[in-house]
Amino acid sequence: MLIELTEIDKSYRDRQGQPVSVLKQLSLQVEQGAFVALAGASGCGKSTLLNILGCLDRFDGGEYRFDGENVGAWSEGQRADLRNRRIGFVFQAFHLLPFLAVEANIALPFMYNHHGQRPSHEHIESLLKSVDLEGMSKRYPGELSGGQMQRVAIARALVLGADLILADEPTGNLDSAAAQGVLDLFELLVKQGKTIVMVTHDPAISARADRQIKMDGGQIVSDDHRESVGGAQ
Ligand SMILES: Nc1ncnc2c1ncn2[C@@H]1O[C@H](COP(=O)(O)OP(=O)(O)O)[C@@H](O)[C@H]1O
Ligand SMILES: [Mg+2]
Repeated sequence: MLIELTEIDKSYRDRQGQPVSVLKQLSLQVEQGAFVALAGASGCGKSTLLNILGCLDRFDGGEYRFDGENVGAWSEGQRADLRNRRIGFVFQAFHLLPFLAVEANIALPFMYNHHGQRPSHEHIESLLKSVDLEGMSKRYPGELSGGQMQRVAIARALVLGADLILADEPTGNLDSAAAQGVLDLFELLVKQGKTIVMVTHDPAISARADRQIKMDGGQIVSDDHRESVGGAQ
């Protein structure tokens, strides 16, 4: 298992300092190479769950094992290192820097992580090719369509070699053709062995995943696996 969450509790404090429970005894296992869609009403805890999976946030109770390691017990430095090496984030609003060309946007996490050193030209070219944006390295985000911007953001999420992609409403700002392009790309990445957990409200989007999880009130209330061609689950 790549991800094993066991009875995770998470609460935030309200303005009065009272704890408000957001995740309640939530357990979840995700295999390497799975494509998981996560749905549920606004406020049910989806983004909180992604933040915990991405080691961006801590939890109050339970256990998180990532690739067998008890990462909930790790230091912030160890968790940041794991996040850099293995986890990529994709957001609804792309979060590209408008004053940097495509290649520089993709290079940014690499440079942060390699003391300012740029990734090789070949590395950037192969990422651009993998997200179907060959020849676009010199463009600026403002010169791209929404679907192209999101594919740049996916390339950026992969530049350090992530094998888990956490995507929070990645198609929320896209028309349906561009959304299908992002899903085609996700399917390809999953075939290459990446694991994807994607939050979406849209049943037509979640139908493209192999597994549909629904949350309500900080808990998983349904979890449907599509029969994969290989059969194993
Ligand atoms: N940093 C925070 N501080 C306090 N409350 C928060 C914080 N982040 C989220 N919440 C609350 O936790 C609940 C779940 O939020 P979230 O995980 O963002 O839900 P979703 O992504 O499913 O819409 C909401 O009630 C939200 O207001
Ligand atoms: Mg959210």
